[in-house]
Amino acid sequence: MSGPEAARHLVLVGLMATGKSTVGRILADALGRPLRDSDDQVEAMTGRSVRAIWQTDGEAAFRLFETAALAEALAEATPSVVAGAGGVVLAEENRVLLAADHVDVVWLRAAPETLVARVTAAADEHRPLLDDDPAGMLERMEADRRALYESVADRIVDVDDRTPDAVAAAILEDGS
Ligand code: S3P
Repeated sequence: MSGPEAARHLVLVGLMATGKSTVGRILADALGRPLRDSDDQVEAMTGRSVRAIWQTDGEAAFRLFETAALAEALAEATPSVVAGAGGVVLAEENRVLLAADHVDVVWLRAAPETLVARVTAAADEHRPLLDDDPAGMLERMEADRRALYESVADRIVDVDDRTPDAVAAAILEDGS
């Protein structure tokens, strides 16, 4: 990594369970950068869990914290790896932040079936949207958000048949 690329934050976006946090940790370690994980940031800044904020204050309130977390991460002078939350592309304000020159956005793209298999195998404490009908919800979210992820992405990496290490390697090979 050299030249102007060296100063850019590397931001991972994509639906829940595409591996943003896991791949983000691998990339941060490989690049020697801090990792900023959106849900962790929100929990640290509020002292509350994502689920508690969602249940007590509602989704709109949670989305404001999500925007604050993104703005805080991207305002850091030290280039970081950012694991964005799945909904980070919903607000136009966030999409403007992601379009900045000092931000390199990678969309971790997956078929909904891949994600359904993953979320039903894992505890989803911070994913209240998946409480009732995870398969249906992930399919709807994929349809609703696909164009938004594409609009902010500098690069796209398909994750369906890749391990987190292989996804991270593909991102590094592609010149983050
Ligand atoms: C959400 C994704 C979750 C979490 C919240 C809402 C979404 O984060 O922020 O449950 O709207 O896609 P992850 O993508 O890290 O699971």
